[in-house]
Amino acid sequence: AEVEEGCFPMDMAAAFLPSLPCSTCIWHLEGQPACYRVKPACGHAPYSCPEDWHPRSRNYTSEFESCRLEAVPVEFGDYHPLKPITVTESKTKKMVRKGSTSSTSSSSSSMIDPLSSVLDGTDPLSLFAATADSVTTAANTDSTRKKRDKDDSLVVGSDFEPWSSKRGEILARYTTTEKLSIVSALLNDFGSQKELLNLTQQDYMHRIEDLNQSLKDAWASDQKVKALKIVIQCSKLLSDTTVIQFYPSKFVLITDILDTFGKLVYERILSMCLDNRGSLPDNFTPESVNDTAKETCLNWFFKIASIRELIPRFYVEAAILKCNKFLSQTGISECLPRLTAMIRGIGDPLVAVYARAYLCRVGMEVAPHLKESLNKNFFDFLLTFKQMHGDTVQNQLVVQCVEIPLYLTLYSPAIDWILQCIAYRAPEILLTEMMERCKKLGNNALLLNSVMSAFRAEFIAARSMDFIGMIKECDESGFPKHLLFRSLGLNLAMADPPECDRLQILNEAWKVITKLKNPQDYINCADVWVEYTCRHFTKREVNTVLADVIKHMTPDRAFEDAYPQLQSIIQKIITYFHDFSVLFSVEKFLPFLDMFQKESVRVEVCKCIMEAFIKHQQDATKDPVILNALLHVCKTMHDSVNALTLEDEKRMLASLINGFIKMVSFGRDFEQQLSFYVEARSMFCNLEPVLVQLVHSVNQLAMETRKVMKGNHSRKTAAFVRACVAFCFITIPSLTSIFARLNLYLNSGQVALANQCLSQADAFFKAAVSLVPEVPKMINIDGKMRPSEPFLLEFFCNFFSTLLIVPDHPEQGVLFLVRGLLNVIQDYTWEDNSDDKVRIYTNVLHLLSAMTQETYIYHIDKVDSNDTLYGGDSKFLTEINKLCEAVIAQILDHLKTLGLEETLKRQSQLALYFFNSILAHGDLRNNRLNQLSVNLWNLAQKHGFADTKTMVKTLEYIKRQSKQPEMSHLTELALRLPLQSRT
Ligand SMILES: *[C@@H]1O[C@H](CO)[C@@H](O)[C@H](O)[C@H]1NC(C)=O
Ligand SMILES: *[C@@H]1O[C@H](CO)[C@@H](O)[C@H](O)[C@H]1NC(C)=O
Repeated sequence: AEVEEGCFPMDMAAAFLPSLPCSTCIWHLEGQPACYRVKPACGHAPYSCPEDWHPRSRNYTSEFESCRLEAVPVEFGDYHPLKPITVTESKTKKMVRKGSTSSTSSSSSSMIDPLSSVLDGTDPLSLFAATADSVTTAANTDSTRKKRDKDDSLVVGSDFEPWSSKRGEILARYTTTEKLSIVSALLNDFGSQKELLNLTQQDYMHRIEDLNQSLKDAWASDQKVKALKIVIQCSKLLSDTTVIQFYPSKFVLITDILDTFGKLVYERILSMCLDNRGSLPDNFTPESVNDTAKETCLNWFFKIASIRELIPRFYVEAAILKCNKFLSQTGISECLPRLTAMIRGIGDPLVAVYARAYLCRVGMEVAPHLKESLNKNFFDFLLTFKQMHGDTVQNQLVVQCVEIPLYLTLYSPAIDWILQCIAYRAPEILLTEMMERCKKLGNNALLLNSVMSAFRAEFIAARSMDFIGMIKECDESGFPKHLLFRSLGLNLAMADPPECDRLQILNEAWKVITKLKNPQDYINCADVWVEYTCRHFTKREVNTVLADVIKHMTPDRAFEDAYPQLQSIIQKIITYFHDFSVLFSVEKFLPFLDMFQKESVRVEVCKCIMEAFIKHQQDATKDPVILNALLHVCKTMHDSVNALTLEDEKRMLASLINGFIKMVSFGRDFEQQLSFYVEARSMFCNLEPVLVQLVHSVNQLAMETRKVMKGNHSRKTAAFVRACVAFCFITIPSLTSIFARLNLYLNSGQVALANQCLSQADAFFKAAVSLVPEVPKMINIDGKMRPSEPFLLEFFCNFFSTLLIVPDHPEQGVLFLVRGLLNVIQDYTWEDNSDDKVRIYTNVLHLLSAMTQETYIYHIDKVDSNDTLYGGDSKFLTEINKLCEAVIAQILDHLKTLGLEETLKRQSQLALYFFNSILAHGDLRNNRLNQLSVNLWNLAQKHGFADTKTMVKTLEYIKRQSKQPEMSHLTELALRLPLQSRT
């Protein structure tokens, strides 16, 4: 029989030829000699069978046209596809959108636009919302509203700042370096109490934490008496006022334990109320509480009532105040006045005021509607006011060496809290009355301060001038005045005073603030008032304030102890000044930054500034004021990077600097733009992502130049783009990331090509080719090690698309770059279990097929690619064909190896991959190629690994293609491609 020349796989060859093996043929299947020289006469060995490649000749123009969607001319006035569609639907709602015409509305009823029906509110969710609204409205009759409001008053809302948010502040503020003592032996031997002496504050806090844990443990192991004893001992500590400056913190720690105890007791009794209906509802009545539970509850109250000492008795009872709910409806409202009266028995005014604060705290939690006791506590407190200046207290302060102003601040957390409870949703008139009472007490600064801390900011702000007057009249030797101004400033940061008073307020306040001698007092105040200044005034006033801060904080390097406040000042200023040209024209802004001399803080501040700039700067800028300032800021961030800097931090800094670089534009002054990039490169050379950005920016600049010149460079612009290219060529090698380098070489090569810098483009591409062998197996992506092959595959595909249009260098032979690249692909050590190399070869085949076309699929303006250069010269085509042969040999060889290694699934996938390549790029009118594709098809299905769906779809595609003109030969091919059903 006459059989064509070539080398075929076993399956097919056997069908044609009886025998004549060639011993080392490339394609072995099932271990049999598989290759047959077609002319029997040539059956000699060894023989590697080359496979010719016959690329399909393409008419890209007609292909594009056939892919395009059908276009239909539009008749104006009648129907326009973009005209709004009217939706006419359900009987209840009829909506006609504006702009529609009646003709469309009638036709559209049959074609409802799903989007507009959603937009018109007929989707189920918005319908539901509408119904819910109407239900609510209906339900809001007067009676229900009253009921709801009443319910509201039974719990505090989220607008009430909870105790938990005050705790930390108090613990941080009221500290001591004095040694503390604690009555110990609580845990072991109750008989012999001994004092633990000389504890540091830290030790003390740990001891108290231990006690809290012991309480929970005792409770859990059913040692209720022991638990009660622990709580009593703890409460006793609150009568001790040695180391008085620590008292507020001690109160916080110990009331934590009391809260724990109160909760345990309440939950225990509640659990006794469980019956077969499950738990009690939240608003249960005493009637639904069973007798055992009531009895247990009473028992607790009796035990507590028998505590001998007043302070523990008070605290422990207050802790379980909520348990009164089990006994009677009115229990709590009777208990609160009694406990309030009990506090009158506490002699020390500080201890007493904290006891009141605790009572208000539990009262507010359990019964916030019982306002009477809150007020009563406050008024009782006012009555004890004189005691603070009495002998007992004064003597104590002398012994402890505590000054009066400091002593008075110890009251603040307690009074603030009591007033906060009183002021919560209180009517204006009550607040006014409270204010009057404070005035009557001789403008007591302590009270004034608490009023300003506790009352609504709007209330305070509206009376700012009054408050300033009162503050001025306060006794100098008493409560620290700077704290008063600070409190006022805090209110003014949240609410605005009357317009006409604003400047006077600032002047009055600053007159006092600027006189503060202690830098800490000063900065705490200034920090708060900066916000008021920024809020209502211009850069002139802000500048004055900054100058004053610098003046106060520079002597003796006082700024070193005030970084948080100074940072907060910067933060406030950039929150209010979004226009950076204004911000940096505030003369004292940069000198202010100079106070941040600790590097970590300085970098934090710089980051804030850059974040604000990136967020708020709308347009690119060349404003020298901004550029100078921000280059300085960015340089500071960059210079903080060292060997110890974390990757994450570096990324963060780099992205901020990049954000800046992208916002700098000198418009048409391209040379200045390039100089800026050159300067930036020298400034930011330690941050790789910045260098990457700079290469991109410079490439963009070159393309921008090309655009302005409409592709026709003058001598001057040609020189300029060469300078850009040189910038990139010098910068890229300094990068360590190999893929950054590869991609930038490719990018820059493309840009060079587009700007007709052919030899420079060649240089970039060569550099990329010679870099490939250095690509490591694993690369670090965002801190994780990942295999590099997928990235390499992607890079190659990208590279090939470019190589298509790179013209051959006249002195370096045909397809010099492609050959070079094939060599490095061949030599690269690929993963053993990967087919990537062969997939890349398949893609090379696509490239080579595209290269044989008469006219390439794309070009670069003013660059002659090989199609023009060779004009389809047969030598050129022969060279390509040789490369194709080599590549196909590699692919087939690999398929064979996969068969031998029994990695049949991969073999199947790769066979199909190659099949598709032939289908797309090969000329299947060629018999051998046609046969090869049939073999691949069969191979893909041979071992049952082919996805049937994919095979069916592929076949359908081929049949569809065969209907195209010039593709009828595919009809015959389709007949030769069997679908194997899986067994
Ligand atoms: C390619 O197709 C277009 C449109 O179908 C046709 O005008 C053109 O002559 C074709 N070109 C070649 C080289 O066949
Ligand atoms: C506590 O310190 C004082 C003074 O430093 C010392 O006299 C006393 O012995 C110490 N007490 C204990 C129990 O260590």
